[in-house]
Amino acid sequence: MTDLHTKYLGLSLKSPLVASAGPFTGDLDRMAELEEAGVAAIVLPSLFEEQIEHDTLEIDRLFSIHRESFGEAMSFFPEVDDYNSGIDAYMEMIEKAKERVDVPVIASLNGTNIGGWLKYARLLEGAGADAMELNLYTVAANPLIDGASLEREHLELVALIGEEVSIPIAVKLSPYYSSLSAFAVSLQEAGASGLVMFNRFYSPDLNLETLDVMPRIALSTPEELRLPLRWIGILREHLSISIAGSTGVHSGFDSAKLILAGADVTMTTSSLLIHGVQHLTTIEKQLREWMVEHDYESVEQMRGAVASDAVADPAAYERANYIGNIASFTSQFVGAEPIGLSRKDG
Ligand SMILES: Cc1cc2nc3c(=O)[nH]c(=O)nc-3n(C[C@H](O)[C@H](O)[C@H](O)COP(=O)(O)O)c2cc1C
Repeated sequence: MTDLHTKYLGLSLKSPLVASAGPFTGDLDRMAELEEAGVAAIVLPSLFEEQIEHDTLEIDRLFSIHRESFGEAMSFFPEVDDYNSGIDAYMEMIEKAKERVDVPVIASLNGTNIGGWLKYARLLEGAGADAMELNLYTVAANPLIDGASLEREHLELVALIGEEVSIPIAVKLSPYYSSLSAFAVSLQEAGASGLVMFNRFYSPDLNLETLDVMPRIALSTPEELRLPLRWIGILREHLSISIAGSTGVHSGFDSAKLILAGADVTMTTSSLLIHGVQHLTTIEKQLREWMVEHDYESVEQMRGAVASDAVADPAAYERANYIGNIASFTSQFVGAEPIGLSRKDG
């Protein structure tokens, strides 16, 4: 029997399959269903400080605008009032989640100023969260704030919250730091117990009729897995803290890839919204099947087996054989029919 046990943020988990922050993880019935389907830990949706201050993020608008394009999946999306509004409601959600499920419950926080981050971090710990994810979702749009200042601020924040609470802290990162490796190592030094790689940034769209800049949430595809795959592969040897692989995990094979690159756990939101909570059982089955077929007895044995320090060509994670890849790709197209045409002909 394959052994799926793993450790994440010092917590012992029965498997590496974690539900990342999203609409399902903010609903008690869905949490119970997730547990039944085998989830090993649940990350609650973020408590957004702006929301508490009633300066709305318009998440409800994001949800409703694209409701139709996702059909059934979107019908699971709660309205913003039910999503994660207000500190009292959020604390109650932690308390009720702890009563309802046995798996660890990880709170998630997105603050706007240092006072808020610290205040709410204390409250979430007090409500019984097993660990806390700091969602550093921010768009560096102000040309007066350079990268070094922004990174310094984030590092100070992590260190201060680490002093304030005693539960483990994971930092959910964007991939857009100028030197991600240096920043990741600094986060470890600042006291983070783990890194979540990565959050997804939702870029706005433009309506050509109304000329409105519109917010738009699109769910991920498995192709997006390659970004966390690269960075987990590169960073595993430099980090002794936990790594969670997030973005593009839609199958047990995707999960296997991130674990082989060095992840301790893999997280999923989009695939559950698309296929339903039960999809988690398929992910687990596929992961087990892959392990049996490839003679891995445990997740422990798999973790980092293909990280950059463990492979013959570590540069594969970095330049990804840039020149060779471009040359062979180009040769398929030069002098050939465009893909669309040949597909039609074929
Ligand atoms: C509708 C929706 C709501 C989300 N809410 C949050 C949130 O509150 N906090 C957070 O850190 N990430 C949130 N996420 C991001 C997911 O947790 C996850 O990091 C991202 O979707 C990438 O993983 P995936 O490819 O499995 O979807 C949300 C994603 C979706 C689709």
